[in-house]
Amino acid sequence: MQSRSPSVPYSENKHLLRWVDKVADLCKPAAVHWVDGSQEEYDALCSQMVAAGTFTKLNETLWPGCYYARSDPSDVARVEDRTFICSLSREAAGPTNNWVNPYEMRRKLRGMFSGAMRGRTMYVLPFSMGPVGSPMSQIGVQLTDSPYVVVNMRIMARIGLPVYAEIDKAEKRVVPCVHSLGAPLEPGEADAMWPCNKEKYIVHFPETREIWSYGSGYGGNALLGKKCFALRIASNMARDEGWMAEHMLILGVEDPKGAKSYVAAAFPSACGKTNFAMLIPPSFFKEQGWKVTTVGDDIAWIRPGPDGRLRAINPEAGFFGVAPGTSTKTNPNAMACLSRNTIFTNVALTPEGGVWWEGMTDMPPARCIDWQGKEWTPALAKETGAKAAHPNSRFTAPARQCPSIDAAWEHPDGVPISAIIFGGRRATTMPLVYQAFNWTSGVYTGATMGSEMTAAAAGTVGKVRRDPMAMLPFCGYHMGDYFLHWIGMQKRLSETPRIFHVNWFRKDEEGRFLWPGYSENMRVLKWIVERVRGQALGHESPIGWVPAYSDIEWGGLDFPREDFEKLQRFDRAAWRAEVIGHEELFLDLHDRLPKEMVYERELLICRM
Ligand code: GTP
Ligand code: SPV
Ligand code: MN
Repeated sequence: MQSRSPSVPYSENKHLLRWVDKVADLCKPAAVHWVDGSQEEYDALCSQMVAAGTFTKLNETLWPGCYYARSDPSDVARVEDRTFICSLSREAAGPTNNWVNPYEMRRKLRGMFSGAMRGRTMYVLPFSMGPVGSPMSQIGVQLTDSPYVVVNMRIMARIGLPVYAEIDKAEKRVVPCVHSLGAPLEPGEADAMWPCNKEKYIVHFPETREIWSYGSGYGGNALLGKKCFALRIASNMARDEGWMAEHMLILGVEDPKGAKSYVAAAFPSACGKTNFAMLIPPSFFKEQGWKVTTVGDDIAWIRPGPDGRLRAINPEAGFFGVAPGTSTKTNPNAMACLSRNTIFTNVALTPEGGVWWEGMTDMPPARCIDWQGKEWTPALAKETGAKAAHPNSRFTAPARQCPSIDAAWEHPDGVPISAIIFGGRRATTMPLVYQAFNWTSGVYTGATMGSEMTAAAAGTVGKVRRDPMAMLPFCGYHMGDYFLHWIGMQKRLSETPRIFHVNWFRKDEEGRFLWPGYSENMRVLKWIVERVRGQALGHESPIGWVPAYSDIEWGGLDFPREDFEKLQRFDRAAWRAEVIGHEELFLDLHDRLPKEMVYERELLICRM
């Protein structure tokens, strides 16, 4: 790598240079640093954050190359009520998004960003969502005053020199992203461990494809390539250009004969995408030769290929995964993936300089420092219920370190998608699995999905809300138009993927999960891929095709027929309430709701 001062631009793109100057004039940073994306730069930024107290270097023997950060207690999750889609018309954003007039919002942003980076360095961070140079990839540049964001983005996306080269080729439009912690430093002022601002604004301008984020340093609020670009802005690009940007994992399934199918699955935040994407088949399946491989765990960009089938890429290069509940029992692939070169945020710190979270081991450590920096012991937890790790604590780990990573995960043309799975976290009503009758009824199934809210977003945990296609917080335009776009995809395809719905979270009367989940989800996955290939039986029910007990492989698991029947039970009274819930969503969307959705609802009611 050539050596030079990072204050000298790497790009010759006039638009980029002018824009960087303009934002620097507004935000008044003390310095500008052009990010090259090298390991040396990464190491230097990490050391700088260790010196500033933001990062703790973990024990190099136990956790090589790993760092630990604790956020401000007010900055631990996405802030959906502070997220705005500022399209020219309110109509275009739809009733499920917060909307502010874009002129008014720009005025407000100018005020907020004015001098917002004083005393800090502004990093110019070029990134590619998707492999550099892939026809399915998109490019952005994030200007940020957070070194934490720079190092996390180096794991989550492709950044630095190769991306400047793409920008200078100027074949693709660049999405400008401006991010400030909103915590200017006055001369001589000591910095906070986790600088941020009480006031937060996560703002998208869909028509100009711009992102402005203020006040937060955390996850989806601050790593702008992820939810802001790859979902909210990309969903707008996708609608205009005839593709799809979805909150989906992508995995590959190989059967004992070597036949391989890829499936994509949309589950809401903290509802099991990472775990499903990295599934390890139970030994009974492994011995027969079944394999599951990981392409992505959170976002899929899907496009009709020349053969008329959908092809998907994972636009990300890393996993920003939920830590609690991750263990060598539940997800050994994730544990191997995060064992080195990983950044941990809001988990607990052990006295040996390691990390811990609830569910990582059966035995908690005798003591540790919790996510708020306080002394934590198992006895204290018993007494007060205090959690060592925040429920939305996360690891940022490179995807290439995942033992199950698919050989084609960086293929520029993506992988062919045979099935789409929707799923939510539902204690009642929803069976373990069913298959929609056809594409349109499948779109209805996704559109009317419900799920209990989780700690991934600030708000009420546990309440069931409609979360269409797991995209409620991420669709950058009117949800009714989004359904229409989904329905319309069928016309661009010669073969549509089959659509399924799963629920790993149904509970019995005592509140215990009826289904063991994790590895055992392979039994459901096998039925799904065999349905796609016309190799498994399905039985008609009011909501779709369902497996009988005998259609599922039970080898190696003692799972009684009665329990399966409880899991699959169609509860008429509960479904009545469910369909009323669908109607509530449809009322909100009525002026742009495709008629197919109304007809599907009528058919469902008739079948019930
Ligand atoms: P985001 O990164 O927020 O989009 O979440 P995600 O969908 O990737 O969720 P993840 O796989 O991280 O799972 C979230 C939580 O659900 C974790 O605490 C898991 O332990 C738990 N979980 C995942 N799969 C299962 C399952 O099959 N059964 C049960 N009971 N819990 C599960
Ligand atoms: C989600 O909330 O769906 C996430 C985590 O994947 S975040 O990047 O914070 O949005
Ligand atoms: Mn997610």
